[in-house]
Amino acid sequence: MPKNPLASPHLVDLERALQTTLPMAHIEVGPLPGLAELHLALINADFHTGPLPAEVMHNVIANPAYWAFCWGSGLATAQWLARQPNIVQDKDVIDLGCGSGVVAVMAKLMGARHVWACDTDPDALLATKVNADLNQVEVSLSNNLDKVPDNLDLLFMADVLYDRSNFVLLAKAKNKAARMLIADSRIDDVNDPEFRVIHHMQALTYPNLGEFDEFKNVCFFEYSDN
Ligand SMILES: C[S@@+](CC[C@H](N)C(=O)[O-])C[C@H]1O[C@@H](n2cnc3c(N)ncnc32)[C@H](O)[C@@H]1O
Repeated sequence: MPKNPLASPHLVDLERALQTTLPMAHIEVGPLPGLAELHLALINADFHTGPLPAEVMHNVIANPAYWAFCWGSGLATAQWLARQPNIVQDKDVIDLGCGSGVVAVMAKLMGARHVWACDTDPDALLATKVNADLNQVEVSLSNNLDKVPDNLDLLFMADVLYDRSNFVLLAKAKNKAARMLIADSRIDDVNDPEFRVIHHMQALTYPNLGEFDEFKNVCFFEYSDN
């Protein structure tokens, strides 16, 4: 069923948040590659990627707006869930480092029982709210993993370990859910023998504003407590 791009009252706030970082950008609502059922509000695909003014570069570094892109690992996870909805069906799920909320929203669309989306960036939580609205699903938002209930069935992390300091999240994340699926295009090892590689896919960040092909290989790592 086509989604109504006007179905979130927060779209205006989201565009304002994007323009705090990139004043010349705007929000576009559209389907993801290969996923006609999932519409996201993201940065305009024709955003000019030439050299940015110094002041804008400063904004990008201070407030990077990762949420305005669907990263390759989030896209690959959503595409995988479209083919195998049983991974999330009737499960309590969390998307840690949700960004746009791509995995959280797709999990709910594919039949998850309850979905939490967690991100330390308040604008990512706003983006996830907008994207949940656009796809007419409910997702619970949190800025702190400690505030999310324990004993969940499944925890996703998609392209969060690009920042090596986030490896410390793994121990806490393992205690949150019986199963954990990490999708990452930036790393080929999580340095934890309790994880095993279970799947590979190829996907680039969308919209693709010139991401290098070297980041197209998405590796899925699984941890299970049984
Ligand atoms: C590269 S983006 C990926 C977003 C999304 N998962 C996707 O695939 O499109 C990483 C996200 O992780 C969030 N993040 C980074 N460190 C975090 C932390 N310690 N706890 C929760 N979120 C975090 C960032 O704010 C950002 O939104």
